[in-house]
Amino acid sequence: MIHINADIGEIPRHIAVIMDGNGRWAKKRGWVRTRGHRTGADVVRAITTESAALGIERLTLYAFSSENWSRPEREVRFLMGLLTEYLDGELPTLQDNNIRMEAIGRLDRLPEQARALLDRNREATAGNTAMTLSLALSYGGRDEIVDACRALAQRVAAGELDPSEIDAAALDAHLYAPGSPDVDLVVRTAGEQRLSNFLPWEAVYAEYVSVAPLWPEFTVADFHAALGEYQSRDRRFGRVIEP
Ligand code: FPP
Repeated sequence: MIHINADIGEIPRHIAVIMDGNGRWAKKRGWVRTRGHRTGADVVRAITTESAALGIERLTLYAFSSENWSRPEREVRFLMGLLTEYLDGELPTLQDNNIRMEAIGRLDRLPEQARALLDRNREATAGNTAMTLSLALSYGGRDEIVDACRALAQRVAAGELDPSEIDAAALDAHLYAPGSPDVDLVVRTAGEQRLSNFLPWEAVYAEYVSVAPLWPEFTVADFHAALGEYQSRDRRFGRVIEP
């Protein structure tokens, strides 16, 4: 059995999850793909509350990528409806668990109702302190870096910033969630081993753990196992660690 060491310092500050395999989970059972997404939303709740209970500072979930817009229109519509339903119903769980909700991505592309609920949840949970749940929605890592570069260029053009002042910290300050800790651990379900345009700037030193379960069947025990794997890694950040 994998043991989680819950000592401070052992629990990653920032975990990012690529929730993969919803469609395959449904297909295996002879069901429509959307049923996998619906069950996947229940798993989102379980992993979010467990993360807050473990003392994780920030959990970023890849809920909808910039590439996902090119899925069949029916599936996109279903996912947006599911997102709206989730945002509508999730507030009591967030408040009960002292979780703050945020979102990253090109949010202006989301349907108006989802955006309004996102704003409502963001405002209502702004004072919560146990954990920040960041939903990556209409998110692309390259888009994020492009948007940050554009914002920096605009500041240069306005005479507010000299190009010589542009460094990693300046770019970081123009990302979608400025000031958030770097990603320590990326977990991807369904046995896939790709980053798929997820947090390329923030996850440069992240440990990557790929797990076999499909997202709708991913359990809290599987999550603990991924954390155990993380804790067994030797993180060096390019340095030599003396024994
Ligand atoms: C990948 O499965 C998952 C997604 C594209 C979206 C993630 C969405 C959820 C977990 C449900 C809703 C989330 C919220 C926050 C309400 P896939 O469809 O790519 O699976 P496949 O690779 O097996 O086809």
